[in-house]
Amino acid sequence: MIRFDGVRVEYEGHVALEGLDLEIREGEFFTLLGPSGCGKSTALRALAGFAEPTAGRLEIDGRDVTRVASEKRGVGMVFQSYALFPSMSVRENIAFGLRVQRRAGRERRDLVDRVAAQVGLAASQLERGVAELSGGQQQRVAIARALVLEPRILLLDEPLSNLDAKLRVQLRGELQRLQREVGVTTLYVTHDQEEALALSDRVAVLSDGRLEQVGTPRDIYERSASPFVCDFIGEATRLSTEQLEALGLGHGDVWVRPEHVLLREGGAPATVRSHAYRGASTLLELELAGAPLLTASTSAEAAALEIDDEVRVAIDEGALLRYGQPA
Ligand SMILES: Nc1ncnc2c1ncn2[C@@H]1O[C@H](COP(=O)(O)OP(=O)(O)OP(=O)(O)O)[C@@H](O)[C@H]1O
Ligand SMILES: [Mg+2]
Repeated sequence: MIRFDGVRVEYEGHVALEGLDLEIREGEFFTLLGPSGCGKSTALRALAGFAEPTAGRLEIDGRDVTRVASEKRGVGMVFQSYALFPSMSVRENIAFGLRVQRRAGRERRDLVDRVAAQVGLAASQLERGVAELSGGQQQRVAIARALVLEPRILLLDEPLSNLDAKLRVQLRGELQRLQREVGVTTLYVTHDQEEALALSDRVAVLSDGRLEQVGTPRDIYERSASPFVCDFIGEATRLSTEQLEALGLGHGDVWVRPEHVLLREGGAPATVRSHAYRGASTLLELELAGAPLLTASTSAEAAALEIDDEVRVAIDEGALLRYGQPA
């Protein structure tokens, strides 16, 4: 439905995006994920028509939109800073684009009422000044303002990053339900890997203007395509040569997720160096063969371990993530 075909964007000689190839399906919740400066916003802005590619082509519904004016692409965009009009009421903010389109007053009212309910804004809040609302409520207004125009595509650039942790988790659940309900194809940007895995049908991981991997959240986490992805997503340990030897696991560029490092009798000897109780699980940093190794466990034994305790660990070969040629 959306196609990035070798899309390259440069700013004054600096390459922000290098030949990006992506396909996003109808109705999908698709996320661009990567560290600050990797080109996420640039990709979104290219699709919205706010940044012009120096090479490549963009398609929406099979139509080449590379040179099509932004307002004719059928995309709605929500930014990190809500960019609302502070002196207007909630209703006026949501209705802004409808006014620009010269839609009739009655129609505007009905559309705003419907979308406000969808995003969880109470009818009583609609006539209030938008500046009186909390951050989470303002973000709902920003999303409603984009949705009310019934875009074919919804673009969201870090819409939750200004909110506190708890609200962020709550709103991301709501956003996911809303997207399913409305069915709008959504391209979401975040640098928060947990958020990306929680929300998305598929995720594209970017690094330095390049695509590292595209896949479902499980693909990205369980079958990370590169050491970069492995390191950026969740937690992982790169095993040293000595650790691989101690564990009897061959050699190479080998990584492991904490939940696959098992406390097991007969395993290699390790020492507990730190201990983080997380409620449902415990994350331990062990020292094995002179280097750190993370393990996560839901067992009561793991929760009861203390610093300097001696344990035995093992990793099954099948749980390893191996990269490149074995050294
Ligand atoms: N208007 C601009 N002029 C010059 N360089 C820019 C401009 N916008 C972005 N860049 C540069 O392009 C690169 C990609 O920027 P972009 O904003 O796409 O990153 P991002 O992944 O969205 O980062 P963040 O997570 O910090 O928002 C960065 O190196 C940035 O400094
Ligand atoms: Mg950005």
